[in-house]
Amino acid sequence: MANIIDGKAISAAIRAEIKESTEAFAKEYGFRPGLAVIIVGEDPASQVYVRNKRRACEEVGFYSEAYELPAETTQEELNALVDKLNASDKIHGILCQLPLPKHLDENEVIMRIDPKKDVDAFHPTNVGKIMIGDYSFLPCTPAGVMALLERSGIEISGKECVVVGRSNIVGKPQAMLLLHSHGTVTVCHSRTKNLAEVCRRADILVAAIGKADFFTADMIKEGAVVIDVGMNRRADGKLTGDVDFESVAPKASYITPVPGGVGPMTITMLMQNTLTAAKQSV
Ligand code: GUN
Repeated sequence: MANIIDGKAISAAIRAEIKESTEAFAKEYGFRPGLAVIIVGEDPASQVYVRNKRRACEEVGFYSEAYELPAETTQEELNALVDKLNASDKIHGILCQLPLPKHLDENEVIMRIDPKKDVDAFHPTNVGKIMIGDYSFLPCTPAGVMALLERSGIEISGKECVVVGRSNIVGKPQAMLLLHSHGTVTVCHSRTKNLAEVCRRADILVAAIGKADFFTADMIKEGAVVIDVGMNRRADGKLTGDVDFESVAPKASYITPVPGGVGPMTITMLMQNTLTAAKQSV
């Protein structure tokens, strides 16, 4: 049976470290790191994320502002808010929760956020920096995965790493971070041929395709490290990952559960990025 990587415990440990650094920062500079979170419309999942982000800010001692805008907000109104937050001395990180309602242009918002306050690391400036290995902000979910691996003592150098999923938020930056840690990286996606065969090569498998319980034991090498980025709702309302935990866990050496694996790490990495942004502002 695999070691279960406890994302909640690792996340709590990192938040405690961030809180300590925040207190030292506030003492030295007389202000606290500030995060602004923007949400447009009434998507219930997004509302939960935003509430959790606000709570996390309180926990680590940040200043925070939350903007819950109506679904019919115009691009001009959203742009004006981003401009205001870009100019605010109290705000060091800006996060606009995606997806946005269809009439709004996500790219325009991503491009408008000052790269120095882009704690999602979605702006092309920060994406480009990640590509060349010179980064101040790491995208939150892949950074959370790296922290889980590191704090579990899992070596990446020289390992076969297979990332399944190629989104801008997870798959692509994840591949880059593993590459920077000297993994041999393969990225798979919906058109990959012989997916099971490629997955069976993985010493470290990162599953990020958004399909409930898709990865089964036959796709996993004996002793592999299995990281599940999936967050899917089953018909019965239960939260489940991309990995069929019950069949895969006995075969893996390490595995992340859902919930309680990668999920709690994402917001913690956002806090880390906000602290970094505040430090870089002084
Ligand atoms: N929606 C789902 N994940 C994310 C994220 O990491 N950042 C933002 N801004 N929106 C999201």
